[in-house]
Order: sequence, then C-alpha cells, then structure tokens
Amino acid sequence: MELESQKSLKHLNTFGIDVPASQYIKITSETALIQALKQHNKTPLFILSGGSNMLLTKSLDALVLHIAIKGITTQKNTENTVLVTASAGENWHDFVQYCISKNYGGLENLSLIPGYVGSSPIQNIGAYGVELKDHFVSCEAIHIATGAKKIFSKEDCLFGYRNSFFKNEGKSQYVITSVTFRLTTKEHILNTSYGAIENALSEKGISSPSIRDVADAVIMIRQSKLPDPKKIGNSGSFFKNPVISSKVFKELQQKFPEIPHYIISSSQVKVPAGWLIEKAGFKGKRFGDAGVHNKQALVLVNHGNATGKEILALAQKIQAEIKSVFGISLEAEVNIF
Ligand code: EPU
Repeated sequence: MELESQKSLKHLNTFGIDVPASQYIKITSETALIQALKQHNKTPLFILSGGSNMLLTKSLDALVLHIAIKGITTQKNTENTVLVTASAGENWHDFVQYCISKNYGGLENLSLIPGYVGSSPIQNIGAYGVELKDHFVSCEAIHIATGAKKIFSKEDCLFGYRNSFFKNEGKSQYVITSVTFRLTTKEHILNTSYGAIENALSEKGISSPSIRDVADAVIMIRQSKLPDPKKIGNSGSFFKNPVISSKVFKELQQKFPEIPHYIISSSQVKVPAGWLIEKAGFKGKRFGDAGVHNKQALVLVNHGNATGKEILALAQKIQAEIKSVFGISLEAEVNIF
C-alpha cells in the first residue's frame, strides 16, 4: 500500500480535469482499506471510485482512497437465477459484458455506463428502462469511522431516481466494497420497450433478441449520442431530469406543445433536461474548452483543457437560462467538489 503525494487526478476522472490530491493510496483489498482507514483516521478522506460522476473544481486537500478491489464470484440461486457478486473496483461495463458472456441476464440495458461497480448503487445508475435497483440484492460496505463491515439490503439502500441512502443519510460514511445482483440464467426478462432499442433491433431485423442483441443495441445507441470519455472528457448526464407539477407542465405544454414528457403520477411530470437545454440554444455550444455535447445537450464536455471551474460556470449559466426561459430549476446529477 503505497502513499503518493501531489498525485494528479487527470486520468482518474472522466472529465479529465487536471487537479492534484495532496495524498493518494490505491486500495486493492478490503484488508488494505480497513488498515488505511485506521491509520489515517485524523486525515480528511476522499473516496474515489471510477471518477465518472464528478466534477473537480479545485485541488483536493485530502487523502484520496482509490477503491480498486477486483473479483467476481457467482452462486446458484434458483433454477433460473444466480447471485453474482462483483468487487467495488470492477469496471462496470466490463462486468456487464462478463455477465452477458456467461448468459446471465438483467444488466444488458446498462451496458457502456462508465464507472466502477462500487459506486453504481450510490446513484442507482439507470438507462433505457432499467435501473440498478431492479437487479440489486445487497452490497457490502465498510463504515469509515469504525472500520466495521455492514451488509445493506435493497430496502436499506432507499433507492430512488439517481438517488439512494448513500447520497443522503449515509453520505461520506461508508465505502462500498462489493455489490451482489440476482440475474437470470434461462428465462431472461428483456426490457426492449424503450423506443430507441426497439428501432435498433427492428433495423437489424431481430424479432426475438438475446441479451447480447439488447446489449449491442444499447451500445450502438450510446455510442451514437454520448461522447466517449477517453476521447472527450465528460460525466454523462450533467443534470437530473426535473420533475415538475402537472399544473406547471400544462402551462409549459401550451407554450411548447412538442415538449417530451413522462407522467410520474397524477400530480407530477418528468421532463427531459436535454430537451430544455437544446431548446434554450445551448446544444453544441462551446465556451473555451467547456462545452455542451452536440448530440445530447444533457452532457457537458471538456474539449481539452477546461478547468473544473469553467465547466461549473457553464453549468450555472445553463441553470440560470433554464430558470428564466422555463421557470424550472435544474439540479446537477454529478457530484461537484
Ligand atoms: N432530447 C432533446 N435534445 C437533447 C437530448 C435529449 O430533445 O439534446 C430529448 C430526446 O429527444 C428525448 C428526451 O429528450 O425525447 C430524452 O432523451 P434521452 O433518451 O437521450 O434520455 P435522457 O432523459 O436525456 C436519461 C439518462 C441517461 C440515460 C438515458 C437513456 C438522466 C439524467 N439521464 O437521459 O443517463 O442513458 O436516459 O435511458 O436520467 C447518465 O445518467 O449519465 C446518463 C447518460
């Protein structure tokens, strides 16, 4: 367990922001994690996973613990299901592809989401009609203050839309070390109702798709809309899709009859932030090296050497404009430090 000083985080966050951390340790086992927590219990800590859902706006005066614990184990559950446990440092997409290669179904719609398995429950990652919580069984975590191990059931995690216990009451209190999913082995339940998936499958002439076909369709759709963080720095959707009251929505719909929306309940409607941002004229706009992606306006990008502060300034400009044009407050989905 090697402690590095003044470590550049440029290659450890998908926005590619070049800021240093005063101290850094790469953690590759649970024992090393517990030891580091004990040894550095007086130092401010920063828990780093895949770095795919954060914007760093300043150097970190903290000890960064980079949770890179690897390993996947499988246990038979029922005739038609297995329990698959992945350690926190497994790359999410590689893990999903591993499951598909073993014919374990459930996570295929979540292909190509960046980040590590360990942070996937924190914001209940989701895409194309599936959320992590749909297949989640439990996760193991270490309590930072005491080093004690705790198992969180699905109920304990209080999952919501891009939300969980770990973003609220449990914030900064635990390090997730592994996550267990229940996946199907025979009778897969495919979720292809999302329009873009249906279209991609029918274009290929596939009428009874396999989990591989669904994953391939998702990969194709994501590649066509979302920038590859290895080429253009980004953190996926920068904002959450706002939920507004049906009353406010009706007024908006009168002004903008074409506004896409999803009815959440009899009193609430979710509207796509990407549509609002595009309508406000930001799609593809660039301010220095900070920009709005030209194919999906919900994604802010680093065209090269943008600082975190520049990207944050752009995000705030967008929030102010959306508030003034539509009267809607956009909430950041990425964590800002
Ligand atoms: N839209 C526009 N202009 C844009 C972007 C979107 O008009 O620039 C419209 C689309 O035409 C569509 C609607 O907005 O009618 C929704 O767009 P899309 O299907 O691309 O999904 P999204 O709501 O923008 C959410 C997730 C994504 C996830 C997709 C697919 C959030 C914050 N984002 O985006 O998640 O991949 O659905 O399920 O919920 C992420 O969280 O990082 C992420 C990429």
